[in-house]
Amino acid sequence: MKPYDILAIGELNVDLILNRIDGQPEVGKEKFAEDMILTLGSSTAIFAANAAALGAKVGFVGMIGHDSFGDLIRESLRAKGVDTSMLIESDTLSSGATIILNYGEDRAMVTYQGAMATMSFADIDKSVFEQTRHIHISSIFLQPALNADLEKVLAYARSRGVTTSLDAQWDPAEKWEFDYARILPLVSVFLPNEKELMLLTSSATVDEAIEKIKPYVNTAVIKMGNKGSLLVCKEGEAVFLPSFLNREVVDAIGAGDSFNAGCISRFVKGEPLSECQRFGNLMGAINTTAAGGTGAFTDKAKIEAIARNKFNQFITL
Ligand SMILES: Nc1ncnc2c1ncn2[C@@H]1O[C@H](COP(=O)(O)OP(=O)(O)OP(=O)(O)O)[C@@H](O)[C@H]1O
Ligand SMILES: [Mg+2]
Repeated sequence: MKPYDILAIGELNVDLILNRIDGQPEVGKEKFAEDMILTLGSSTAIFAANAAALGAKVGFVGMIGHDSFGDLIRESLRAKGVDTSMLIESDTLSSGATIILNYGEDRAMVTYQGAMATMSFADIDKSVFEQTRHIHISSIFLQPALNADLEKVLAYARSRGVTTSLDAQWDPAEKWEFDYARILPLVSVFLPNEKELMLLTSSATVDEAIEKIKPYVNTAVIKMGNKGSLLVCKEGEAVFLPSFLNREVVDAIGAGDSFNAGCISRFVKGEPLSECQRFGNLMGAINTTAAGGTGAFTDKAKIEAIARNKFNQFITL
């Protein structure tokens, strides 16, 4: 028995969110915000928290600074039931932070990447690969050092009999450098959204992108927003599964990460891929019923109740 079902390897940062600001920021001047929230950021953290809420044993491998933001990140993950003993603390770099200036629907953001940008394969204690059944890697373009070592990490996991999933997420630099022919054969479950898949493969359509990845992919589940998702396996046609449509979306922040948490929490249980896809769709839908990425995932009973009451799905976690 391994102590962890899933180790999440990804970015960690705090979000400092300023609301109700009296005008646009101007160099040399000062503005007031009437409201401020300091909270755990990072989409991989949403994945880890929600996979833990669904009952998986989850640990996090990420790099933070030796500072109070690092303490906040560690405590927030722990409060969500995620094991933080494998977090790496940098002696020289601060924890990452995103400053978000909120203006209604629009927001201006500045991110200091800090420690998360520097974590490489060499920083990761190799014994962690012996302690988990599965490794989930996310947000590679926010972690240049890890991205440079991506093939090494995945190949090492494979050599230890550990299955893997990858959600590359958005590339802020919009370069989309991704050697899918080398990387995808090492990934058990690839989890892009439609747009990212097209950009990662320089394709004009999703169909063209699927043709390109097909020779290399083991399994891909492609997220399609409120339409649902598409399951692509080595053999056979892609299988579209419509969403459990929520017409009263509170917000869709973290829907993709909740989809990943649902899909992978089933995958590590050895469930059929069609069931992993269905559970991903359901958790993506549940995510949209409450504010933020983790609002709907407070405890098992509440998740089961939302599945039953809003989507007529009877699940037991
Ligand atoms: N309005 C909705 N109703 C029901 N399900 C939804 C809705 N919006 C999203 N989903 C579900 O959530 C999944 C993931 O959403 P999406 O495609 O937006 O992922 P993403 O682009 O990776 O998101 P993120 O911005 O969180 O990274 C979808 O595949 C779908 O199953
Ligand atoms: Mg996403």
